[in-house]
Amino acid sequence: MNELKKKANTFLLHLGTSKKKVISSEGPVIFTSAKGCYLYDENGKEYIDALSGSWVVNSGHGQQDIIQGIVEQFSNIAYSMSSEGYANDKAITLAEKLSELLPGGDKCTYFTSGGSEAVEIALRLARIFHKINGKRKKNIIVARHGSYHGGTLLALSISGYDLISKSAGPVPGGIEKISHPYCHRCKYNNKGCNLQCAYELEDVIKANGPEAIAAFIAEPISAHSGIAIPPLNYWKVIRNICDKYRVLLIVDEVLTGFCRTGKFFAIEHFDVIPDIIVMSKGLTSGYAPLGAVSVSKDILSNIPDNSFLPQGFTYSGHPISCAAALSNLFFMSRNNLDKESARKGAFLLSELRNSLVDNQYISDIRGIGLLICIELKGDKKFENAQRLTQYFLSHGVYTRIIMEYVHIAPPLTIPDDVLKKMAEIIIGGFTKYDLI
Ligand SMILES: Cc1ncc(COP(=O)(O)O)c(C=O)c1O
Repeated sequence: MNELKKKANTFLLHLGTSKKKVISSEGPVIFTSAKGCYLYDENGKEYIDALSGSWVVNSGHGQQDIIQGIVEQFSNIAYSMSSEGYANDKAITLAEKLSELLPGGDKCTYFTSGGSEAVEIALRLARIFHKINGKRKKNIIVARHGSYHGGTLLALSISGYDLISKSAGPVPGGIEKISHPYCHRCKYNNKGCNLQCAYELEDVIKANGPEAIAAFIAEPISAHSGIAIPPLNYWKVIRNICDKYRVLLIVDEVLTGFCRTGKFFAIEHFDVIPDIIVMSKGLTSGYAPLGAVSVSKDILSNIPDNSFLPQGFTYSGHPISCAAALSNLFFMSRNNLDKESARKGAFLLSELRNSLVDNQYISDIRGIGLLICIELKGDKKFENAQRLTQYFLSHGVYTRIIMEYVHIAPPLTIPDDVLKKMAEIIIGGFTKYDLI
């Protein structure tokens, strides 16, 4: 183990894994530079970034147009307060841009440092909205099993994983969960699908009483349950149930937003307009940390102008992050990254399906745009996941296998020949598997 790795294991606290696991796999893998769709480790070894870091770098690494916008901002103003009656020009311009881009338009936005904070603000605003409107008991949040909404205490508690109760419980109260639309292993056996998974929301609302439910939150397409793409009418049913019982609909586009699925926002595939939209990751393509919560103006019109909305964050509307987002959004539009994602994703999905259709280690291959997942099967799937990760890394492909899901989501700017090469290496991991 080299000196840098030794220092990493001495001074860094590794979350989301165990120190023993990192050390036994001779990790961590340390990246020191990146360009386009490639990452380079401290020894100069090249890897295709098959996960855009963590579904973040949608525009690709080292894009000079984005960097230029950020560098210019440093000379203007690097930090200013952006809550409690203060603002900066870049945050204002970005909020206006999001209002234009988001489904339904007409939004007001609060900026955070990342996705989890944005989720927390969205949930808080939902409760505040009902309280201000005299519905003081309307405070339960309904979320889904199989979702992921972030690492803070509340965001992790509304996530599908049972991680918080086991490690840092107790879980905050006022949370209910329904099934996720996981068609590949449908809880209701897909028998004449009449969207029972969506109607579970109505069951929960009736069981608790509509006067107790504040909001429903979910990702339009859940990556964390293996790119579970809901049936086309799923979101319309959810929207109708929310309208019927005055429950706010919060859509978490942190991972799916900003061209990842072939449209600017994944909820556009379902033609539904949420009340609140949460964003991060692709908003800046990772050039600076930023999250956002955009609220429809017709929701805000129910909050009197003299209402006090408590506490924001120090780094809200950070000018450097907002400048990064503006340059990034301009880059995305100019390079048609929504269409590029749809085209490249369709190619990759068919390459993987054609070559791996009967592979003994694979249960399903699915995706939309450049948001793709290979679901593993068999008794040894978790052991296989570790061996596959090592195979991919040794063949110069970086990705992550979370539980039984091999995630593939390269930068949307990945050149066609590199996309093909990446597909071949991934296919090789499965077809040469007995050789590993
Ligand atoms: C759907 C979703 N929501 C929220 C989050 C939390 O974002 P962050 O890690 O920036 O706090 C994530 C992170 O992966 C996510 O995928």
